[in-house]
Amino acid sequence: MSLLTRKSTDLLHWIDYRLPIIQAFKTHMSEYYAPKNLNFWYFFGVLAMLAFANQLLSGIWLTMFYTPTIESAFASIEYIMRDVESGWIIRYMHEVGASFFFIAVYLHIYRGFLYGSYKKPRELVWLIGMFIYLLMMAEGFFGYVLPFGNMSFWGAKVIMNIIGVIPVIGEDLQIWVQGDFFISGATLSRFFAFHVALVPIILIAGIYLHVIALHQVGSNNPEGIDIKAHKDENGIPLDGIPFHPYYTVHDLIPVVLFILAFFVTIFYFPDGGGFFIEPPNYIPANNLSTPDHITPVWYFTPFYAMLRAVTITFLGMDAKFWGLIVITGAILVLFFLPWLDRSPVKSLRYKGRVSKAFLMIWTFCFIGLGVLGIKPADWAPEWVSPTFTIIYFAYFLLMPFYTRWETCKTVPERITANGQRSR
Ligand code: HEM
Repeated sequence: MSLLTRKSTDLLHWIDYRLPIIQAFKTHMSEYYAPKNLNFWYFFGVLAMLAFANQLLSGIWLTMFYTPTIESAFASIEYIMRDVESGWIIRYMHEVGASFFFIAVYLHIYRGFLYGSYKKPRELVWLIGMFIYLLMMAEGFFGYVLPFGNMSFWGAKVIMNIIGVIPVIGEDLQIWVQGDFFISGATLSRFFAFHVALVPIILIAGIYLHVIALHQVGSNNPEGIDIKAHKDENGIPLDGIPFHPYYTVHDLIPVVLFILAFFVTIFYFPDGGGFFIEPPNYIPANNLSTPDHITPVWYFTPFYAMLRAVTITFLGMDAKFWGLIVITGAILVLFFLPWLDRSPVKSLRYKGRVSKAFLMIWTFCFIGLGVLGIKPADWAPEWVSPTFTIIYFAYFLLMPFYTRWETCKTVPERITANGQRSR
């Protein structure tokens, strides 16, 4: 052993005696046994982490030059784009990064739908995940307001007005959140504080708890087979492989592809064809000029379409109020998924025909709502978004019935030798 190797081993043991890093590495990496059949859908957790790290790093750099005041917010972004050395790429990394983060997380959540990852014993992993998703939405919203372009301003106005329709406390709550009677400098500086400090701190804690809760119970897999049911004499799951080195190396491929796609987007389509930065955001906020179509960024549009789908006045409350109830319900219902799904099996591979068909229809409607939310309200016939919204809810609310009644296939005891579907 060379002197250098001995010294570094000594240092490692010195640290480990005081802070158990070797044990932590074993517990979460080299002796964490993951199912041997994890597929494409299992890449997105790691990719979400990568995207989050990019948001933190690029965000810190932007904070060095951005100024959260009404007078100079927009100009400070222009300054970053034109005058700050490499400022343009840092800004695009943050802005394109936000969309890539949401793409990764939406696919990550959808994997949960496919393989029943939310079912016992991973209910807490799911709930913490949902909490992370809520925080991401808040983070995305606050961030979008900061450049103070015209869409930032009008988007903020729409959301703040929605808060205002909550009965009894709405108006006071709106003023409290805004810090003023209208969107002003006070609003911008508190949104800045939320965006760069409050929400990221809670997000970091949330992601940490998410992974710890997952490692407590272990990963699910595309077959939905419990790998802990069959262990060798040393207590190691027979269908598991150590996360490190197998999945650390395996995950390098999607990481490289993700980075490649990320930089191709930054270099060739930095505004994502108007979906990542909407055209009205190239002009400064203007109280007197409303954009032709006020739309949020793509990752919010399914919920925005639901909000617009509600046009009824009922019990003396206007459509905006019922719209708010619908979008709140649309997100809340996801929290209950672990208890709505009564199927005896986890993976869609073994569920019955109703679950498969319903998930396909639901997916079509959710994406459809996303498209409808981007387009002007009169783009599709009036019945389309209410119908898609009803199907969105029906998928969840009828789940306790169809998942119990349909006939499922028998789940094999073990993952087969090649790690693929066992039929
Ligand atoms: C910042 C956002 C997030 C990060 C960094 C993250 C990270 C991870 C990682 C690294 C894993 C293990 C690898 C994998 O299964 O892909 C995981 C698993 C999981 N995550 Fe997330 N996650 C995030 C958001 C969410 C959200 C929003 C949900 C849904 C509500 C969610 C639900 C789950 C579930 C259910 C699992 C276990 C999957 C299984 O074992 O089949 N996560 N997450």
